[in-house]
Amino acid sequence: MTTRPPLRPLPPPGDLRAELARLVHATRRLVAAEREGGVVTLPGTPRPPEPPAAPAATPHAPHAATPAAPPPATPPTTPRGTQRAGPADSFVPHVRPLDLPDDWRAPFGDLPQRITACRRCALGEKRTCTVFGEGSAPAELVFCGEAPGYEEDRTGRPFVGAAGELLTAMIERGMKMRREDVFILNTLKCRPPRNRAPLPIEVGACRPHLEEQLAVIRPKVIVALGNHAVRALLGESPGITRMRGRVIDALGAKVVPTYHPAYLLRNAAAKRDSWEDLKTVLRLLGRAPA
Ligand code: URA
Repeated sequence: MTTRPPLRPLPPPGDLRAELARLVHATRRLVAAEREGGVVTLPGTPRPPEPPAAPAATPHAPHAATPAAPPPATPPTTPRGTQRAGPADSFVPHVRPLDLPDDWRAPFGDLPQRITACRRCALGEKRTCTVFGEGSAPAELVFCGEAPGYEEDRTGRPFVGAAGELLTAMIERGMKMRREDVFILNTLKCRPPRNRAPLPIEVGACRPHLEEQLAVIRPKVIVALGNHAVRALLGESPGITRMRGRVIDALGAKVVPTYHPAYLLRNAAAKRDSWEDLKTVLRLLGRAPA
């Protein structure tokens, strides 16, 4: 039988109220932090049933704010056994709309339309929106992520959830550039179910889109966010921890591997290395790190 430590004596009624207020405050902060990370139920709690498969989305304009198919009543669960916060249409992007000219996609010709209609792999059947990417073209700097997540699939914009908020802060507060001045895209244009890792067949099917985008953007530097992006861009990767800190000539640019912002949200200690990588990027661009 386990012996429990004796309970602390109850504080007097006045203190009890203060303690309760502290507990409520701490719990609110904890819940807010979890929500920020997209979590509303914790691993181990019973999962709600998966929503019925959404009907295949009809082609739609890239970056359309309105999903082509109605969002499922219950959002899908993430791979870590957690449930995403809020129904799709209640999601408010963590990232402001970009201040770009209406015709910012013009340099890409009909590529946005071709990506919207793409059925090269099975991901096209389940997506709500394709996520072309967004920013300026040409641009000297590209950030390449892995694949759209839940929020991106709903909004058609890249990196608009908690990880996107951090990426935006890295660009704007850290590098002193505007998100509008760079281009942000992903190796895949459609969300893999339950945010699972991209399959090689999907990366291969989407690669021509990525190459066409890069040929138009003509970046000097491509920041590869996380191991999947590194592998998709370079063909192989022994792991992001071994790849970061290096600069690799590929795809007509300098490729700088660094940690994915979603990883940084869970591992704040890695932000120091990530900032070193961003300083390397600034040097490669001829901009003195602040
Ligand atoms: N993670 C990614 O890799 N890409 C996004 O667009 C969002 C989250």
